[in-house]
Amino acid sequence: HIVPVILSGGVGSRLWPLSREHFPKQCLNLTHDHLSLLQQTALRTQHLDVSMPIIVCNEDHRFLIAQQLQELNIKDARIILEPVGRNTAPAITLAALEATSDDSILLVLPADHVINNTAAFEEAITQAASLAKENYLVTFGIQPTRPETGYGYIKAGQNFDVETFVEKPDANTAEGYLTSGEYLWNSGMFLFKAGAFLAELKSQREDIYRAVSSAYQNKSEDLDFIRVDTEIFSACPEESIDYAVMEQTTKAKVVPYSGDWSDIGAWDALYDFAEKDKNLNVLIGDVMTEDTNNTLINAKSRLVAAVGVTNLAIIETADAVLVIDKDNAQNVKKIVKRIQKEG
Ligand code: GDD
Ligand code: MG
Repeated sequence: HIVPVILSGGVGSRLWPLSREHFPKQCLNLTHDHLSLLQQTALRTQHLDVSMPIIVCNEDHRFLIAQQLQELNIKDARIILEPVGRNTAPAITLAALEATSDDSILLVLPADHVINNTAAFEEAITQAASLAKENYLVTFGIQPTRPETGYGYIKAGQNFDVETFVEKPDANTAEGYLTSGEYLWNSGMFLFKAGAFLAELKSQREDIYRAVSSAYQNKSEDLDFIRVDTEIFSACPEESIDYAVMEQTTKAKVVPYSGDWSDIGAWDALYDFAEKDKNLNVLIGDVMTEDTNNTLINAKSRLVAAVGVTNLAIIETADAVLVIDKDNAQNVKKIVKRIQKEG
């Protein structure tokens, strides 16, 4: 059996105003009429031989997430609640501790990825499973298409070996990796035995291992939720699996994944991923346009009209409207920060 572990910690603030602190991006129906990104992730493994998933999420999102799983008839998922986010290393450690045995194979999946080609996905997982059984920590490598600095880069050798793993290189380094043609992007999905991961974490970041183990041992169970100790977990160092384990380990392997994949981080990425009309627009909801090109418009609560504009994203909701040049999509974060500060 493979145990899917769904990481659902983020809020996705660059997709404001659709994403909100209490309604994170992974719970939105961004690419599918009636399924959220989280629901699509939960269904992604349905043709594989998997057991019930473990979801690791923030305390604040527990009812929303439980309800979205219920809508899919997933009733026995284990939902682990974090009082605060401590990034992916602690979140994955909680799932590894919750796994039934050290030999359980965990398939770690970010809740906010879009993958439509499930056949390629299943093939990569099947290939990776035989490596995971030999105690390797398997990543999935994607052919890079741009010098993205927000991703991890993997230099692959013979026999699925990982020669180097570099998390979030600077722009020059990323450019060099891209032109060399020798590097793959880390997809952010992982496959390994719970015990193999814990052993590597313990040897590299014993501080994280200890803090999370003790927070987990002091857990309480309430309804369907597993709640870890707030004080101990909050004191755990904040680190991603990529820095804490993957950059240093000698146990990493990389399996190429060539299906479609998108980490829909911001409005420009959503535009790129979506199907466009003949004017290269993506229009969702009640929208009218004249002389408008390359534009994404999402109208939630009223008619939105655009005339003579290009390259914008216009996102309308009942209480907030965003108008942004798509080339500035990353900077939505600045507005969200100001809203948090200024109210
Ligand atoms: N439960 C939980 N708790 N989930 C978390 C936490 C946390 O504290 N922090 C992040 N996550 C979830 C996010 O919601 C997301 O689904 C996933 O873990 C990855 O976190 P990101 O913060 O989106 O990571 P990233 O995009 O900067 O980098 C990772 O993904 C890239 C590909 O998308 C790395 O693995 C990179 O190497 C990789 O290229
Ligand atoms: Mg991400």
